[in-house]
Amino acid sequence: MQEFIITGGHRLSGELTLQGSKNSSLPIMAAALLGGGETVLKNCPELTDVYSASRILNCLGCKCRISDGIAVIDPDGAEGSEIPETLMREMRSSIMFMGAILGRTGECTVSIPGGCELGPRPIDMHLAALKKMGADISDKGGRIHCRINGGRAHGARITLPFPSVGATENIILCAVTADGETIVNNAAREPEICDLCRFLRVRGADIKGDGGSSIVIKGVEELHGCEYSIMPDRIAGATYLSMTAAAGGEMILKNACTAETEPFLTVLEQTGCTICTGENRIYLRSSGRLKAVRERIRTMPHPGFPTDAQAVLMAALIRADGTSVFEENIFDCRYRHTAALIKMGADIEVMGKVAVVRGVTQLHGADVEATDLRGGAAMAAAALSAEGTTHLRGIAHIDRGYEKFEEAVRSLGGDIRRV
Ligand code: EPU
Repeated sequence: MQEFIITGGHRLSGELTLQGSKNSSLPIMAAALLGGGETVLKNCPELTDVYSASRILNCLGCKCRISDGIAVIDPDGAEGSEIPETLMREMRSSIMFMGAILGRTGECTVSIPGGCELGPRPIDMHLAALKKMGADISDKGGRIHCRINGGRAHGARITLPFPSVGATENIILCAVTADGETIVNNAAREPEICDLCRFLRVRGADIKGDGGSSIVIKGVEELHGCEYSIMPDRIAGATYLSMTAAAGGEMILKNACTAETEPFLTVLEQTGCTICTGENRIYLRSSGRLKAVRERIRTMPHPGFPTDAQAVLMAALIRADGTSVFEENIFDCRYRHTAALIKMGADIEVMGKVAVVRGVTQLHGADVEATDLRGGAAMAAAALSAEGTTHLRGIAHIDRGYEKFEEAVRSLGGDIRRV
Protein backbone atom coordinates (compact mmCIF):
# COMPACT_ATOMS: atom_id res chain seq x y z
CA MET A 1 0.00 0.00 0.00
CA GLN A 2 1.40 3.35 -1.05
CA GLU A 3 1.71 6.36 1.23
CA PHE A 4 2.77 9.99 1.07
CA ILE A 5 5.67 11.18 3.18
CA ILE A 6 5.24 14.90 3.71
CA THR A 7 7.65 17.20 5.49
CA GLY A 8 5.99 20.45 6.41
CA GLY A 9 7.05 23.91 7.37
CA HIS A 10 7.95 25.20 3.87
CA ARG A 11 6.20 28.15 2.28
CA LEU A 12 4.49 27.31 -1.00
CA SER A 13 4.83 29.35 -4.14
CA GLY A 14 4.41 29.01 -7.88
CA GLU A 15 1.89 28.53 -10.65
CA LEU A 16 -0.39 25.56 -11.08
CA THR A 17 -2.60 24.65 -14.01
CA LEU A 18 -5.83 23.18 -12.74
CA GLN A 19 -7.04 19.74 -13.79
CA GLY A 20 -10.43 19.10 -15.37
CA SER A 21 -13.32 18.51 -13.01
CA LYS A 22 -13.88 15.01 -11.64
CA ASN A 23 -17.51 15.68 -10.83
CA SER A 24 -18.17 16.91 -14.38
CA SER A 25 -16.22 14.16 -16.12
CA LEU A 26 -18.16 11.31 -14.55
CA PRO A 27 -21.71 12.32 -15.60
CA ILE A 28 -20.41 13.58 -18.95
CA MET A 29 -18.79 10.20 -19.61
CA ALA A 30 -22.13 8.56 -18.76
CA ALA A 31 -23.85 11.01 -21.13
CA ALA A 32 -21.52 9.97 -23.96
CA LEU A 33 -23.35 6.63 -23.89
CA LEU A 34 -26.52 8.26 -25.23
CA GLY A 35 -27.22 8.59 -28.94
CA GLY A 36 -24.63 7.97 -31.62
CA GLY A 37 -21.29 9.34 -32.75
CA GLU A 38 -17.93 9.69 -31.11
CA THR A 39 -17.35 12.00 -28.16
CA VAL A 40 -13.91 13.51 -27.68
CA LEU A 41 -13.46 14.93 -24.18
CA LYS A 42 -10.58 17.30 -23.63
CA ASN A 43 -9.25 18.36 -20.23
CA CYS A 44 -10.37 14.97 -18.92
CA PRO A 45 -8.53 14.35 -15.63
CA GLU A 46 -6.66 11.05 -15.34
CA LEU A 47 -8.08 9.81 -12.05
CA THR A 48 -8.95 6.37 -10.76
CA ASP A 49 -12.65 7.34 -10.73
CA VAL A 50 -12.43 8.37 -14.39
CA TYR A 51 -10.79 5.02 -15.21
CA SER A 52 -13.61 3.25 -13.33
CA ALA A 53 -16.13 5.14 -15.49
CA SER A 54 -14.17 4.06 -18.56
CA ARG A 55 -14.33 0.41 -17.44
CA ILE A 56 -18.11 0.72 -17.00
CA LEU A 57 -18.47 2.16 -20.52
CA ASN A 58 -16.36 -0.61 -22.01
CA CYS A 59 -18.32 -3.22 -20.12
CA LEU A 60 -21.54 -1.84 -21.64
CA GLY A 61 -20.09 -2.27 -25.13
CA CYS A 62 -18.76 1.27 -25.69
CA LYS A 63 -15.26 1.84 -26.91
CA CYS A 64 -13.58 4.21 -24.45
CA ARG A 65 -9.90 5.06 -24.30
CA ILE A 66 -8.12 7.77 -22.35
CA SER A 67 -4.67 9.19 -22.85
CA ASP A 68 -2.94 12.54 -22.39
CA GLY A 69 -6.03 14.16 -20.91
CA ILE A 70 -8.30 13.18 -23.79
CA ALA A 71 -11.08 10.60 -23.54
CA VAL A 72 -12.51 9.21 -26.76
CA ILE A 73 -15.85 7.46 -26.35
CA ASP A 74 -17.69 5.69 -29.14
CA PRO A 75 -21.11 4.37 -28.07
CA ASP A 76 -22.02 2.79 -31.40
CA GLY A 77 -23.03 -0.81 -30.79
CA ALA A 78 -23.25 -0.44 -26.99
CA GLU A 79 -26.09 -2.79 -26.12
CA GLY A 80 -25.16 -3.65 -22.52
CA SER A 81 -27.55 -2.70 -19.76
CA GLU A 82 -25.93 -4.31 -16.72
CA ILE A 83 -23.14 -3.03 -14.52
CA PRO A 84 -21.51 -5.85 -12.52
CA GLU A 85 -21.38 -5.40 -8.77
CA THR A 86 -17.57 -5.27 -8.73
CA LEU A 87 -17.60 -2.23 -11.05
CA MET A 88 -20.45 -0.61 -9.11
CA ARG A 89 -18.37 -0.92 -5.94
CA GLU A 90 -15.28 0.73 -7.45
CA MET A 91 -16.90 4.13 -7.24
CA ARG A 92 -20.03 5.46 -5.63
CA SER A 93 -20.93 7.68 -8.58
CA SER A 94 -21.39 4.60 -10.80
CA ILE A 95 -25.07 5.14 -9.97
CA MET A 96 -24.98 8.05 -12.44
CA PHE A 97 -24.92 5.57 -15.30
CA MET A 98 -28.44 4.43 -14.47
CA GLY A 99 -30.22 7.31 -16.25
CA ALA A 100 -27.96 7.06 -19.30
CA ILE A 101 -28.35 3.29 -19.69
CA LEU A 102 -32.13 3.60 -19.31
CA GLY A 103 -32.12 6.38 -21.92
CA ARG A 104 -30.17 4.18 -24.30
CA THR A 105 -31.66 0.71 -23.84
CA GLY A 106 -34.85 1.16 -21.81
CA GLU A 107 -33.60 -1.14 -19.08
CA CYS A 108 -30.72 -1.40 -16.65
CA THR A 109 -29.43 -3.50 -13.79
CA VAL A 110 -27.14 -1.91 -11.20
CA SER A 111 -26.48 -2.29 -7.50
CA ILE A 112 -26.40 0.22 -4.69
CA PRO A 113 -22.77 1.14 -4.11
CA GLY A 114 -22.10 0.02 -0.55
CA GLY A 115 -19.84 1.28 2.23
CA CYS A 116 -19.93 4.27 4.51
CA GLU A 117 -17.57 7.00 3.48
CA LEU A 118 -19.57 10.17 4.10
CA GLY A 119 -22.53 8.50 5.84
CA PRO A 120 -25.55 6.87 4.24
CA ARG A 121 -26.00 7.85 0.59
CA PRO A 122 -29.45 6.62 -0.38
CA ILE A 123 -30.70 6.76 -3.97
CA ASP A 124 -34.41 7.07 -3.20
CA MET A 125 -34.73 10.37 -5.10
CA HIS A 126 -33.09 8.87 -8.20
CA LEU A 127 -35.45 5.89 -8.15
CA ALA A 128 -38.63 7.92 -7.46
CA ALA A 129 -37.82 10.23 -10.38
CA LEU A 130 -37.07 7.40 -12.80
CA LYS A 131 -40.34 5.71 -11.76
CA LYS A 132 -42.20 8.92 -12.64
CA MET A 133 -40.57 8.74 -16.07
CA GLY A 134 -41.97 5.29 -16.66
CA ALA A 135 -39.45 2.86 -15.11
CA ASP A 136 -40.61 -0.27 -13.27
CA ILE A 137 -38.07 -0.88 -10.55
CA SER A 138 -37.39 -4.02 -8.54
CA ASP A 139 -34.70 -4.75 -5.98
CA LYS A 140 -33.54 -8.35 -5.64
CA GLY A 141 -30.82 -8.88 -3.05
CA GLY A 142 -29.28 -5.46 -3.63
CA ARG A 143 -29.43 -5.72 -7.44
CA ILE A 144 -31.72 -3.04 -8.83
CA HIS A 145 -33.49 -3.78 -12.06
CA CYS A 146 -35.22 -0.94 -13.96
CA ARG A 147 -37.30 -1.47 -17.06
CA ILE A 148 -39.30 0.95 -19.16
CA ASN A 149 -42.32 -0.50 -20.91
CA GLY A 150 -41.99 0.20 -24.60
CA GLY A 151 -38.29 1.02 -24.16
CA ARG A 152 -38.57 4.83 -24.09
CA ALA A 153 -39.00 6.94 -20.96
CA HIS A 154 -41.60 9.70 -20.99
CA GLY A 155 -41.35 13.25 -19.76
CA ALA A 156 -42.58 14.09 -16.25
CA ARG A 157 -42.84 16.92 -13.76
CA ILE A 158 -40.47 16.09 -10.90
CA THR A 159 -39.96 18.05 -7.71
CA LEU A 160 -36.94 16.92 -5.73
CA PRO A 161 -37.27 17.01 -1.92
CA PHE A 162 -33.62 18.17 -1.83
CA PRO A 163 -31.48 19.53 -4.69
CA SER A 164 -29.46 16.34 -5.08
CA VAL A 165 -26.63 16.61 -7.61
CA GLY A 166 -26.70 12.94 -8.61
CA ALA A 167 -30.50 12.70 -8.84
CA THR A 168 -30.64 15.86 -10.99
CA GLU A 169 -27.98 14.38 -13.29
CA ASN A 170 -29.72 11.01 -13.56
CA ILE A 171 -33.02 12.69 -14.46
CA ILE A 172 -31.34 14.83 -17.13
CA LEU A 173 -29.62 11.77 -18.58
CA CYS A 174 -32.86 9.82 -18.78
CA ALA A 175 -34.93 12.80 -20.00
CA VAL A 176 -32.71 14.00 -22.79
CA THR A 177 -33.92 11.38 -25.29
CA ALA A 178 -37.26 10.67 -23.58
CA ASP A 179 -40.64 11.18 -25.17
CA GLY A 180 -41.87 14.69 -24.22
CA GLU A 181 -40.90 17.33 -21.72
CA THR A 182 -39.40 16.83 -18.26
CA ILE A 183 -39.38 19.59 -15.67
CA VAL A 184 -37.08 19.24 -12.66
CA ASN A 185 -38.06 21.55 -9.82
CA ASN A 186 -35.71 22.16 -6.88
CA ALA A 187 -32.90 20.93 -9.15
CA ALA A 188 -29.28 21.09 -8.04
CA ARG A 189 -27.56 24.25 -9.32
CA GLU A 190 -23.95 23.05 -9.11
CA PRO A 191 -21.65 24.24 -11.94
CA GLU A 192 -21.03 20.57 -12.86
CA ILE A 193 -24.75 20.24 -13.74
CA CYS A 194 -24.33 23.19 -16.12
CA ASP A 195 -21.26 21.54 -17.63
CA LEU A 196 -23.23 18.34 -18.25
CA CYS A 197 -26.05 20.34 -19.87
CA ARG A 198 -23.61 22.35 -22.02
CA PHE A 199 -22.11 19.07 -23.25
CA LEU A 200 -25.52 17.60 -24.04
CA ARG A 201 -26.60 20.78 -25.85
CA VAL A 202 -23.49 20.57 -28.06
CA ARG A 203 -24.68 17.04 -28.92
CA GLY A 204 -28.14 18.32 -29.90
CA ALA A 205 -30.12 18.15 -26.64
CA ASP A 206 -32.83 20.66 -25.77
CA ILE A 207 -32.25 21.73 -22.16
CA LYS A 208 -33.03 25.07 -20.53
CA GLY A 209 -32.75 26.50 -17.05
CA ASP A 210 -29.64 24.71 -15.75
CA GLY A 211 -27.88 26.78 -13.12
CA GLY A 212 -31.32 27.73 -11.80
CA SER A 213 -33.59 25.57 -9.70
CA SER A 214 -35.99 24.63 -12.49
CA ILE A 215 -34.59 22.73 -15.48
CA VAL A 216 -36.69 21.97 -18.55
CA ILE A 217 -35.61 19.13 -20.83
CA LYS A 218 -37.41 18.44 -24.10
CA GLY A 219 -36.62 14.94 -25.29
CA VAL A 220 -34.98 14.69 -28.72
CA GLU A 221 -34.81 11.72 -31.10
CA GLU A 222 -31.09 11.88 -31.79
CA LEU A 223 -27.83 12.99 -30.22
CA HIS A 224 -24.64 13.22 -32.25
CA GLY A 225 -20.92 13.04 -31.53
CA CYS A 226 -18.90 16.09 -30.51
CA GLU A 227 -15.69 17.47 -29.13
CA TYR A 228 -15.98 19.08 -25.70
CA SER A 229 -13.66 20.50 -23.06
CA ILE A 230 -14.46 19.65 -19.45
CA MET A 231 -14.63 22.56 -17.00
CA PRO A 232 -11.81 23.05 -14.47
CA ASP A 233 -12.10 21.38 -11.08
CA ARG A 234 -13.22 24.06 -8.62
CA ILE A 235 -12.69 21.72 -5.63
CA ALA A 236 -9.14 20.77 -6.60
CA GLY A 237 -8.62 24.53 -6.97
CA ALA A 238 -9.99 25.16 -3.47
CA THR A 239 -7.66 22.44 -2.17
CA TYR A 240 -4.43 23.93 -3.57
CA LEU A 241 -5.48 27.43 -2.48
CA SER A 242 -6.19 26.18 1.06
CA MET A 243 -2.79 24.50 1.18
CA THR A 244 -0.97 27.68 0.24
CA ALA A 245 -3.12 29.70 2.63
CA ALA A 246 -2.18 27.32 5.46
CA ALA A 247 1.53 27.03 4.70
CA GLY A 248 1.99 30.68 3.71
CA GLY A 249 3.29 31.83 0.34
CA GLU A 250 1.81 32.90 -2.96
CA MET A 251 0.41 31.08 -5.96
CA ILE A 252 -1.39 31.55 -9.24
CA LEU A 253 -3.99 29.00 -10.19
CA LYS A 254 -4.34 28.84 -13.98
CA ASN A 255 -7.25 27.35 -15.95
CA ALA A 256 -9.44 28.18 -12.94
CA CYS A 257 -13.20 28.73 -12.99
CA THR A 258 -13.29 31.94 -11.03
CA ALA A 259 -17.05 32.60 -10.88
CA GLU A 260 -17.80 29.00 -9.82
CA THR A 261 -15.14 29.16 -7.09
CA GLU A 262 -16.56 32.41 -5.65
CA PRO A 263 -18.58 30.84 -2.76
CA PHE A 264 -15.32 29.32 -1.50
CA LEU A 265 -13.16 32.40 -2.17
CA THR A 266 -15.52 34.70 -0.28
CA VAL A 267 -14.93 32.65 2.88
CA LEU A 268 -11.20 32.07 2.32
CA GLU A 269 -10.68 35.82 1.94
CA GLN A 270 -12.00 36.34 5.48
CA THR A 271 -8.86 34.60 6.78
CA GLY A 272 -6.81 37.63 5.72
CA CYS A 273 -5.33 36.17 2.51
CA THR A 274 -5.03 38.42 -0.51
CA ILE A 275 -7.06 36.99 -3.38
CA CYS A 276 -7.38 38.41 -6.91
CA THR A 277 -9.28 36.83 -9.79
CA GLY A 278 -9.39 37.43 -13.53
CA GLU A 279 -8.82 35.79 -16.92
CA ASN A 280 -9.38 32.23 -15.61
CA ARG A 281 -6.75 32.80 -12.94
CA ILE A 282 -6.81 33.06 -9.18
CA TYR A 283 -3.95 34.69 -7.32
CA LEU A 284 -3.48 34.09 -3.60
CA ARG A 285 -0.98 35.45 -1.11
CA SER A 286 -0.86 34.33 2.50
CA SER A 287 1.39 35.32 5.39
CA GLY A 288 0.81 31.87 6.89
CA ARG A 289 -0.79 33.48 9.97
CA LEU A 290 -4.50 33.32 9.19
CA LYS A 291 -7.44 34.82 11.06
CA ALA A 292 -10.31 32.57 12.09
CA VAL A 293 -13.52 32.97 10.06
CA ARG A 294 -15.99 34.85 12.27
CA GLU A 295 -19.22 33.70 10.63
CA ARG A 296 -20.29 30.07 10.88
CA ILE A 297 -19.17 28.20 7.75
CA ARG A 298 -22.32 26.39 6.63
CA THR A 299 -22.04 23.88 3.81
CA MET A 300 -25.01 24.26 1.49
CA PRO A 301 -26.01 23.32 -2.04
CA HIS A 302 -24.51 25.65 -4.67
CA PRO A 303 -24.20 28.65 -4.54
CA GLY A 304 -23.60 28.03 -0.84
CA PHE A 305 -20.25 27.00 0.61
CA PRO A 306 -19.37 23.61 -0.97
CA THR A 307 -19.29 20.55 1.28
CA ASP A 308 -16.37 19.25 -0.81
CA ALA A 309 -14.22 22.18 0.38
CA GLN A 310 -15.13 21.87 4.07
CA ALA A 311 -12.24 19.57 5.04
CA VAL A 312 -9.53 21.45 3.14
CA LEU A 313 -10.60 24.83 4.52
CA MET A 314 -10.64 23.30 7.99
CA ALA A 315 -7.00 22.21 7.46
CA ALA A 316 -6.13 25.86 6.76
CA LEU A 317 -8.01 27.16 9.82
CA ILE A 318 -6.41 24.81 12.38
CA ARG A 319 -3.56 27.25 12.96
CA ALA A 320 -5.64 30.41 12.52
CA ASP A 321 -5.86 33.05 15.21
CA GLY A 322 -9.20 32.46 16.97
CA THR A 323 -12.07 30.01 16.70
CA SER A 324 -13.89 28.99 13.49
CA VAL A 325 -17.15 27.03 13.44
CA PHE A 326 -18.24 24.68 10.66
CA GLU A 327 -21.74 23.34 10.10
CA GLU A 328 -21.95 20.37 7.70
CA ASN A 329 -25.43 20.27 6.21
CA ILE A 330 -25.02 17.94 3.22
CA PHE A 331 -23.57 14.67 4.54
CA ASP A 332 -24.06 12.99 7.93
CA CYS A 333 -20.53 11.75 8.33
CA ARG A 334 -18.14 14.24 6.81
CA TYR A 335 -15.88 14.99 9.76
CA ARG A 336 -13.89 11.76 9.72
CA HIS A 337 -10.70 13.68 8.88
CA THR A 338 -10.84 15.51 12.22
CA ALA A 339 -9.39 12.54 14.16
CA ALA A 340 -6.19 12.69 12.06
CA LEU A 341 -6.01 16.48 12.32
CA ILE A 342 -6.33 16.21 16.12
CA LYS A 343 -3.50 13.65 16.09
CA MET A 344 -1.40 16.32 14.37
CA GLY A 345 -2.10 18.76 17.19
CA ALA A 346 -5.36 20.44 16.10
CA ASP A 347 -7.98 21.48 18.65
CA ILE A 348 -11.29 20.43 17.09
CA GLU A 349 -14.52 19.48 18.81
CA VAL A 350 -17.23 17.78 16.78
CA MET A 351 -20.83 17.92 18.00
CA GLY A 352 -23.16 16.38 15.46
CA LYS A 353 -23.16 18.56 12.38
CA VAL A 354 -21.03 21.25 14.05
CA ALA A 355 -17.23 21.30 14.34
CA VAL A 356 -15.53 23.94 16.48
CA VAL A 357 -11.94 24.62 15.42
CA ARG A 358 -9.87 26.52 18.01
CA GLY A 359 -6.69 27.79 16.39
CA VAL A 360 -3.40 26.38 17.72
CA THR A 361 0.04 27.87 17.09
CA GLN A 362 1.75 24.72 15.88
CA LEU A 363 0.98 21.37 14.24
CA HIS A 364 3.32 18.39 14.22
CA GLY A 365 3.79 15.51 11.82
CA ALA A 366 2.05 12.20 12.60
CA ASP A 367 1.14 8.81 11.10
CA VAL A 368 -2.36 9.22 9.73
CA GLU A 369 -4.69 7.52 7.28
CA ALA A 370 -7.07 9.07 4.74
CA THR A 371 -10.61 7.78 5.05
CA ASP A 372 -12.13 9.68 2.12
CA LEU A 373 -11.03 11.84 -0.81
CA ARG A 374 -11.36 15.39 0.54
CA GLY A 375 -10.46 14.34 4.09
CA GLY A 376 -7.23 12.86 2.72
CA ALA A 377 -6.43 16.09 0.88
CA ALA A 378 -7.08 18.01 4.11
CA MET A 379 -4.57 15.80 5.95
CA ALA A 380 -1.97 16.53 3.25
CA ALA A 381 -2.68 20.28 3.55
CA ALA A 382 -2.27 20.14 7.33
CA ALA A 383 0.94 18.10 6.97
CA LEU A 384 2.44 20.75 4.67
CA SER A 385 1.97 23.41 7.35
CA ALA A 386 3.09 21.19 10.25
CA GLU A 387 6.52 20.88 11.82
CA GLY A 388 8.17 17.56 11.02
CA THR A 389 7.18 14.61 8.89
CA THR A 390 3.78 13.03 8.28
CA HIS A 391 3.17 9.56 6.91
CA LEU A 392 -0.18 9.64 5.13
CA ARG A 393 -1.69 6.25 4.26
CA GLY A 394 -4.89 5.45 2.39
CA ILE A 395 -3.82 7.66 -0.52
CA ALA A 396 -5.89 5.66 -3.01
CA HIS A 397 -8.70 7.96 -1.81
CA ILE A 398 -6.70 11.00 -2.96
CA ASP A 399 -5.93 9.40 -6.34
CA ARG A 400 -9.68 9.13 -6.97
CA GLY A 401 -9.98 12.88 -7.35
CA TYR A 402 -6.60 14.62 -7.67
CA GLU A 403 -4.57 14.23 -10.84
CA LYS A 404 -0.86 13.76 -10.11
CA PHE A 405 -1.37 15.16 -6.62
CA GLU A 406 2.23 14.97 -5.46
CA GLU A 407 3.52 16.57 -8.68
CA ALA A 408 1.10 19.46 -8.20
CA VAL A 409 2.17 19.95 -4.58
CA ARG A 410 5.87 19.65 -5.49
CA SER A 411 5.45 22.25 -8.24
CA LEU A 412 4.47 24.67 -5.45
CA GLY A 413 7.59 23.73 -3.48
CA GLY A 414 5.95 21.26 -1.08
CA ASP A 415 8.07 18.38 0.22
CA ILE A 416 6.02 15.29 -0.61
CA ARG A 417 7.04 11.81 -1.78
CA ARG A 418 5.00 8.75 -2.75
CA VAL A 419 6.52 5.51 -1.51
N1 EPU B 1 -29.56 12.05 -0.94
C1 EPU B 1 -30.66 11.31 -0.54
N2 EPU B 1 -31.33 10.58 -1.48
C2 EPU B 1 -30.93 10.56 -2.78
C3 EPU B 1 -29.81 11.30 -3.19
C4 EPU B 1 -29.13 12.05 -2.23
O1 EPU B 1 -31.04 11.32 0.63
O2 EPU B 1 -31.59 9.87 -3.58
C5 EPU B 1 -28.84 12.84 0.07
C6 EPU B 1 -27.40 12.34 0.27
O3 EPU B 1 -27.36 11.26 1.16
C7 EPU B 1 -26.70 13.56 0.79
C8 EPU B 1 -27.42 14.70 0.07
O4 EPU B 1 -28.66 14.17 -0.40
O5 EPU B 1 -26.91 13.68 2.16
C9 EPU B 1 -26.65 15.27 -1.11
O6 EPU B 1 -26.33 14.27 -2.03
P1 EPU B 1 -26.14 14.54 -3.59
O7 EPU B 1 -27.00 13.57 -4.30
O8 EPU B 1 -26.31 15.98 -3.88
O9 EPU B 1 -24.61 14.16 -3.79
P2 EPU B 1 -23.99 13.14 -4.82
O10 EPU B 1 -24.58 13.33 -6.15
O11 EPU B 1 -23.95 11.79 -4.23
C10 EPU B 1 -22.15 14.83 -5.60
C11 EPU B 1 -20.65 14.84 -5.69
C12 EPU B 1 -20.08 14.88 -4.29
C13 EPU B 1 -20.57 16.15 -3.61
C14 EPU B 1 -22.11 16.19 -3.60
C15 EPU B 1 -22.69 17.47 -3.03
C16 EPU B 1 -20.16 13.64 -7.71
C17 EPU B 1 -19.59 12.44 -8.36
N3 EPU B 1 -20.19 13.65 -6.38
O12 EPU B 1 -22.49 13.67 -4.86
O13 EPU B 1 -18.67 14.94 -4.45
O14 EPU B 1 -20.11 16.19 -2.29
O15 EPU B 1 -22.59 16.02 -4.96
O16 EPU B 1 -22.20 18.56 -3.71
O17 EPU B 1 -20.55 14.58 -8.38
C18 EPU B 1 -16.42 14.64 -3.81
O18 EPU B 1 -16.09 15.06 -4.93
O19 EPU B 1 -15.60 14.46 -2.88
C19 EPU B 1 -17.82 14.34 -3.55
C20 EPU B 1 -18.22 13.59 -2.53
